[in-house]
Amino acid sequence: MPRPVIAFACDHGGFPLKARLLVALEAAGCDVLDLGTESTAPVDYPDYAAALGRAIIEKRAARGVLVCGSGVGASVAANKLPGIRAALCHDSFSARQGVEDDDCNVLCLGARVVGPELAADLVDIWLKARFSGAARHVRRLEKIRQLETNALTFK
Ligand code: RB5
Repeated sequence: MPRPVIAFACDHGGFPLKARLLVALEAAGCDVLDLGTESTAPVDYPDYAAALGRAIIEKRAARGVLVCGSGVGASVAANKLPGIRAALCHDSFSARQGVEDDDCNVLCLGARVVGPELAADLVDIWLKARFSGAARHVRRLEKIRQLETNALTFK
């Protein structure tokens, strides 16, 4: 069984969680595509959200973990990319159900909100979750795809 590739990216606000989350991803049997950043020097989170989203769209990674200070800016930016379903989850129920029901492919976290052990648990729960494939959820995802298509043409 090939190891899944999970992309990881953070801005300076998210950097304090990076080392712990890379350990969590590797411990869960994933290969990590590390897209930075590499320090707490200020950067712009949309650049990192774009790099991570692009890696998923181009199938260089199956899913991604994206961290900023609050997780809010990262999730807003990532959700602008077609096919990206990013969710800010600071509780286990959302981390699991966001995949089971909504096929969330990017987990966003806020390093100024959750500590490293909770963040690592959330990554683990999210990684283990699988989309249910239930007809009602497939139908809703198709409606999201239509929203993306219509947005591109300002409908
Ligand atoms: C950076 O200071 C901070 O704004 C960013 O990490 C994030 O919290 C944005 O939502």
